[in-house]
Amino acid sequence: VGPRGTPIKYKFSVTGVRLALYGFGNVGRALARMLLATRAPFNVTALTTKSHGAVVDANGIDLDTILAGTDLPLRALPPVAVLPADVLVEVTPLDPLTGEPALGHIRDALRAGMHVVTANKGPIARAYRELDGLATKHDRMVRFEATLADCLPVFTLRRSALPLAKISAIRGIVSSTNNHILSAAAAGIPFEDALADAQRLGIAEADPRNDLEGHDAAAKATILANVLMDADLVPEDVSREPIDERAATAARAAAENGGRVRPLIEITRRDGKVVASFGPRRLSPMDPLFAVDDFSMGLVFETDLAGRVVVQLHDPHVDQVAYAILTDLLEISGTMPRP
Ligand SMILES: NC(=O)c1ccc[n+]([C@@H]2O[C@H](COP(=O)([O-])OP(=O)(O)OC[C@H]3O[C@@H](n4cnc5c(N)ncnc54)[C@H](OP(=O)(O)O)[C@@H]3O)[C@@H](O)[C@H]2O)c1
Repeated sequence: VGPRGTPIKYKFSVTGVRLALYGFGNVGRALARMLLATRAPFNVTALTTKSHGAVVDANGIDLDTILAGTDLPLRALPPVAVLPADVLVEVTPLDPLTGEPALGHIRDALRAGMHVVTANKGPIARAYRELDGLATKHDRMVRFEATLADCLPVFTLRRSALPLAKISAIRGIVSSTNNHILSAAAAGIPFEDALADAQRLGIAEADPRNDLEGHDAAAKATILANVLMDADLVPEDVSREPIDERAATAARAAAENGGRVRPLIEITRRDGKVVASFGPRRLSPMDPLFAVDDFSMGLVFETDLAGRVVVQLHDPHVDQVAYAILTDLLEISGTMPRP
């Protein structure tokens, strides 16, 4: 409703874009709930899990019924290429070492003429250039805003607000779980309790070592470097220091002196090469990331044309991952012809 009580009509360029959801866990379910709540113009025609079956219906699946816990009828997972869908939404679990099985799903979808939206950083960190090339070859889009920091605008920011600007350095907090652990440590909360909290909220990765040992952050730093700074890194190129009891002790000590220890990624150019690192770093109160506490995330971009640009997302939940996917879907649907 507009300022004078007049209804605002949102016009989408296409209705009923067909979606295949590969994966129906925390993120897939949050997206389903958001599709229902917003009545966004999408029609889910396929939905798959690993061990709870799958369902395919070219006329559209009743998400209310599925969310209520109905058994999915198909035992064998249908291959991506045969799904009656315009967009594959890939939300299966992360394998930081290979990017599989998501990488295979994304390749298959692009080859079959589908657009792709994913929250899974594995395939983008491992094979961004290949997937971008494949998408271009098949005249399709691959979008991955949710891989970085939920709905913190990163790639949409680049496309819409920073065209032509050269990004020379990026630093930031992109791991909710690690930031929560160090923030909790500063408040005297034990490491294990803070980790359990992140797991209970569905925010920690299924295997917490991905977060604590910095694999997750290294994958994100790789994506940022390759997509925004034209680098050609793999996650193993990112030097890592863990978020462990030692880092928690340092966070407690820093807090006693008015400081903060944050889990920081830093990407910069050195001798013409892009280098990236991750680890616990002490910040002063003047740092733009000082206030990015607990589950919050933030990034600082150093650019030539736009100067220093800072973005923050405070206290996101799994709904903010779903929202990032939804914004990617709306961008794609805006490019599709009307039926
Ligand atoms: N949770 C977050 O806050 C968050 C934030 C940003 C990005 N992400 C990314 O989003 C993705 C999904 O996360 P999540 O928290 O929703 O994970 P999740 O709760 O573990 O759900 C994963 C889903 O994928 C299904 N699955 C597993 N292997 C599959 C396969 N080979 N084919 C089809 N389906 C398969 C699982 O089936 P079963 O139920 O049968 O096991 C489950 O339904 C991950 O890549 C994660 O890194 C998550």
